Amino acid sequence: MRSSVIFVYLLLSILCVYCSQPKRIVDQMYISFDHARYCVRRLNGTHEIGCQSSASGNSGRMYMIDNDEEFNSYLMNTKLIDSSGSFIIVLNVNLFNTYYVDKLITSLSSKLNGLLLYLKSTSSRPEYFSHDDQCPNHRYSYYLNQTEIINWNSKGTGLFFRSFPFPIMLIDEEDDYKQLIKFYRQFNYSQSSSPTCGLELKSFQNAAHSSKTCIRRNDISHSLIDLEETFCDPVGGLNIYSKLPQSFIIIPKKRQPKSVILILTTTDSFQMFLKIKGTTGGAQQPATSLITFLALAHLIGQEQNEFKQQDKEIIFVTLDGDALDYSASFKFMFDMINGSFPIGNQNEEPIKVEHIHSIIEFQSLSLTDKLSLYTYPSSLINQTFIDTLVHNNPMIIPMAVDSSLPPASSQIFLRQTSSLSFPAYILTSTNQNQLSNHYYHSFFDDPSTLSINISSLEYNSTTEFSQWIKNIVEPFGQTLIESFVGIKKNITIKQEIINNLVYCILKNINCPLIHNVTNQSTGNSFDSSNETSLPFSINTYPVAATPTFPFVQNILSYFLRDRIYDTYNLNETTCKQYSNNDSFCSYIYVGGYAPSIMSEQSFDGYCVRSYIRSVSSMSPAFTIDNYDLSQTTYPAWTESRWTTISLRLFVIPTRKHEIITLVIGILLLSVSFIVCFILRYYTNISLLQPSSS
Ligand SMILES: *[C@@H]1O[C@H](CO)[C@@H](O)[C@H](O)[C@H]1NC(C)=O
Ligand SMILES: *[C@@H]1O[C@H](CO)[C@@H](O)[C@H](O)[C@H]1NC(C)=O
Ligand SMILES: *[C@@H]1O[C@H](CO)[C@@H](O)[C@H](O)[C@H]1NC(C)=O
Ligand SMILES: *[C@@H]1O[C@H](CO)[C@@H](O)[C@H](O)[C@H]1NC(C)=O
Ligand SMILES: *[C@@H]1O[C@H](CO)[C@@H](O)[C@H](O)[C@H]1NC(C)=O
Ligand SMILES: *[C@@H]1O[C@H](CO)[C@@H](O)[C@H](O)[C@H]1NC(C)=O
Ligand SMILES: *[C@@H]1O[C@H](CO)[C@@H](O)[C@H](O)[C@H]1NC(C)=O
Ligand SMILES: *[C@@H]1O[C@H](CO)[C@@H](O)[C@H](O)[C@H]1NC(C)=O
Ligand SMILES: *[C@@H]1O[C@H](CO)[C@@H](O)[C@H](O)[C@H]1NC(C)=O
Ligand SMILES: *[C@@H]1O[C@H](CO)[C@@H](O)[C@H](O)[C@H]1NC(C)=O
Ligand SMILES: *[C@@H]1O[C@H](CO)[C@@H](O)[C@H](O)[C@H]1NC(C)=O
Ligand SMILES: *[C@@H]1O[C@H](CO)[C@@H](O)[C@H](O)[C@H]1NC(C)=O
Repeated sequence: MRSSVIFVYLLLSILCVYCSQPKRIVDQMYISFDHARYCVRRLNGTHEIGCQSSASGNSGRMYMIDNDEEFNSYLMNTKLIDSSGSFIIVLNVNLFNTYYVDKLITSLSSKLNGLLLYLKSTSSRPEYFSHDDQCPNHRYSYYLNQTEIINWNSKGTGLFFRSFPFPIMLIDEEDDYKQLIKFYRQFNYSQSSSPTCGLELKSFQNAAHSSKTCIRRNDISHSLIDLEETFCDPVGGLNIYSKLPQSFIIIPKKRQPKSVILILTTTDSFQMFLKIKGTTGGAQQPATSLITFLALAHLIGQEQNEFKQQDKEIIFVTLDGDALDYSASFKFMFDMINGSFPIGNQNEEPIKVEHIHSIIEFQSLSLTDKLSLYTYPSSLINQTFIDTLVHNNPMIIPMAVDSSLPPASSQIFLRQTSSLSFPAYILTSTNQNQLSNHYYHSFFDDPSTLSINISSLEYNSTTEFSQWIKNIVEPFGQTLIESFVGIKKNITIKQEIINNLVYCILKNINCPLIHNVTNQSTGNSFDSSNETSLPFSINTYPVAATPTFPFVQNILSYFLRDRIYDTYNLNETTCKQYSNNDSFCSYIYVGGYAPSIMSEQSFDGYCVRSYIRSVSSMSPAFTIDNYDLSQTTYPAWTESRWTTISLRLFVIPTRKHEIITLVIGILLLSVSFIVCFILRYYTNISLLQPSSS
C-alpha cells in the first residue's frame, strides 16, 4: 500500500509541473500590454454603441499605419491584404476619425478584426480629439424641432455613438509604444515567408442590442435565484443638493412663488477609451465648472449672515448623468414635477416649478480670458442682474438675447417647463458658437489643458488656473449679494481654498481637505485611493465605488454649514445628540478645515450642521412602472458589464515553422502514450477505483 501512496504522490507532482509549465510557455509566447485603454459597450433604448471582441478575443496579423501616405499605400497593396485572413490595424491616434475608419471598414470588410490606436508621446497628441457628436446631446436638446442646429463641437467625430463589430483599444504610454514598435520592426519583413507579428484584443461585453433587451435579460436572470447575473447597469449616480440651513426656522415657512435659485453643475463625463488606473480626463468639462461651483458655495457659506437677511433660497445642485442625453436633468425635473424635491423630510414643503426664481449654470468652462453668458428666455431674464454681473466681471460677455443655448442641463429644465416659468443663466467658455475645449469628452481633457503641470502641483500651489477661478468666483458672489440682498460688498475667498480644491480634484482626492471635512468613517473611504484624481466618467446605478459622490457631499455640506456652530465648541457626543433631535439637518463631527474657519479660537473638532440631500440620478425611464424603454420620452442609457480586458502581441510563425511544430507535437504525444502505457503495465493501479485499505 505504501508504494502506491508514493506513486500517487509522484504522479501528482508530475501533473503539477505539467500544469504550471504551459503557463510559462504562454508567457514567453505572448507579450501583454496591461495599460491599454479600451472601448466598451453602451446601450440606449433602441441601439448599442461602442465596441467588443468575441468571447475568446479577436486576433489577426498586425499592420501598423503611421500617416496618410502609409495608409494609402496599405490600401493599394492588395497582395498584402490577400495574404492574410484577418488584420489588426495599428493606427496613429491622429488618424482616428470617420474618414480613415470608414475607409478601413469598407476596404477590409470582414478582414478588419480590430483596431489598436497608439500615441507616440504626450507631445504628439492631436490638436483635436473628441468623439462626441458635433452637436452634443442633440437627440434630447431643447431645440428638437429646430431645423438649423448649431455644431458646438464641430470637430467632434461622433465615433463614440457608433457601434463597431470589432474591438478598439489605445495605448497611451510611451513605453508601450516603444515595445510595440520594437517587435514590429523586428518582424517587419515584406516576404510572406517570414514570421510576422499578430495581436489579440479581448474585450468581450455581456450586454447586446439595446437597454430594453438587456434590462429584460437582467430581470429574467434575477427572477431565477440560482442564476443571478447582471448584464448591464443603468447610467446615473447621484443628484446632490445642499443649501444654507436656515438657522432659526427648522420647518421652513410656506414657500413663496419665485423664491428658489438653483445653481447647477455636473459631475460626470464620458470618454471612448477607459483605463483602470489612468486619467479619465474631465479637467475642463466638468472639473473646472465643479471647482468654480464649490468655491462659490464657500463664498455663500462664508457670507451667510448677509444671505440670511433675504427671502430667497439658493440651492446648489450637482447632476450626474447629463453627458449622455441629460439623463440626470430629466430625473431632477421628474422629481420636482412629481413633488418629491427636496427628498427626505415630510415637514419640508416640496419645491415646485412655480417656486423657482431662476437657474444659474456653470457648464463647459475652460481657462479662457472671456466667458460667455447665455440667457433664456428673453421675456423672463432680468437685465439688471446681467448688467451687475458684467459690471463686476468684465471678462463676461453677454450673448445676444435669445441666441441658441450651448449643451447645458438648463435645456432640459426649460424644455420640461416649456420655458414659461423661470429664466436660465449659463456661464460657459465658447467662442463664436464653438466650445473652447478641443478635447470635449475625451481622456486628453487633462490638467495640461489648464496650464497645470500635474507632476509639480502641490496641495497649496497657486497656479494661473486657481487665480483665474478666484477672479470668476468673487465677482459672481458679489453679484449675488448685490442682486438678492441688495448691498454692495467686496467679498474675497482665500486663494488657499481654491488651490486645495484644484489639487484634490485634479491630482489627489486623498488630500488633507477631504479628511478635515469628513468624520472618521467616511474619511476612511478615501484612504485606499492613492494619488488619483477625481474620476469623471459614466457612473452607473447602483452607485459604484466612485468617490465623486462622498467627495461632493462632504465638501458641499461643510462649505455651506451653519457657521454659528463653529463657535460652540461642541464635542462628539453632543453633536450626535443634536443629530437625533433634528431630522432636517445633518450633524457630523469633523476635525475642521483651518482656512475656512473664521473664529478666533480653534477647537479640536467641529460639529458641522448642514442641509444635504442626494437622490438617484438614474433616468425616470427605469423607475416608471411599465415604461417602454424604446420610447423617446426619457433617455434610457445603460452600460454593459465585462470581465476581462487584454491586449497581447504574439509572433505568427510561417507555414514551415508550423509544420515542424506539428510534427514535434505528434512525436511528443506518441512518446507520452508509450510512457503512460508502460507505467500502467508495471504498476497495475487504477486511480478510478477506490482503494481497498
Ligand atoms: C416639437 O413638435 C412636436 C409636434 O409638433 C410637439 O409636440 C413638441 O412639443 C415640440 N417640442 C418642442 C421642444 O418644442
Ligand atoms: C440610440 O442611439 C443611436 C445611436 O446614437 C441613435 O441612432 C438612436 O436614435 C438612439 N435611440 C434613442 C431612443 O435615443
Ligand atoms: C515595415 O516595412 C515596410 C516595408 O518594408 C516599411 O515601409 C515600413 O516603414 C516598416 N515599418 C516600420 C514600423 O518599420
Ligand atoms: C513639470 O514639473 C516637473 C517637476 O517639477 C518638471 O521636471 C517638468 O519639466 C515640468 N514639465 C513641464 C512641461 O513644465
Ligand atoms: C431684477 O433684479 C433686481 C436686482 O438685481 C431687482 O431689484 C429687480 O426687481 C429684478 N427685476 C425683476 C423684473 O425681477
Ligand atoms: C471694493 O474694492 C474696490 C477696489 O478694490 C474699491 O474701489 C471699492 O471702494 C470697494 N467697495 C467697497 C464697498 O468696499
Ligand atoms: C498657502 O498659500 C498662500 C499663498 O499662496 C499662503 O498665504 C498660505 O499661507 C499658504 N498656506 C499654507 C498652509 O501653507
Ligand atoms: C459619521 O457621520 C455619519 C453621518 O452623520 C454617521 O452616520 C456616522 O456614524 C459617523 N461616523 C462616525 C465614526 O462618527
Ligand atoms: C498605495 O500606495 C502604497 C505605497 O505607496 C502601495 O503599497 C499601495 O498598494 C497603494 N494602494 C493602492 C490602492 O493603490
Ligand atoms: C460633551 O459635552 C457635554 C456638554 O458640554 C458634557 O456634558 C459631556 O461630558 C462631554 N462629553 C465628553 C465625552 O467630553
Ligand atoms: C486638518 O486637521 C488637522 C487636525 O485634525 C490639522 O492639524 C490640519 O492643519 C488641518 N488641515 C487643514 C488643511 O486645515
Ligand atoms: C412620486 O412621488 C411619490 C411621493 O410623493 C413617490 O411615492 C413616487 O414613488 C414617485 N414616483 C416616482 C415614479 O418616483
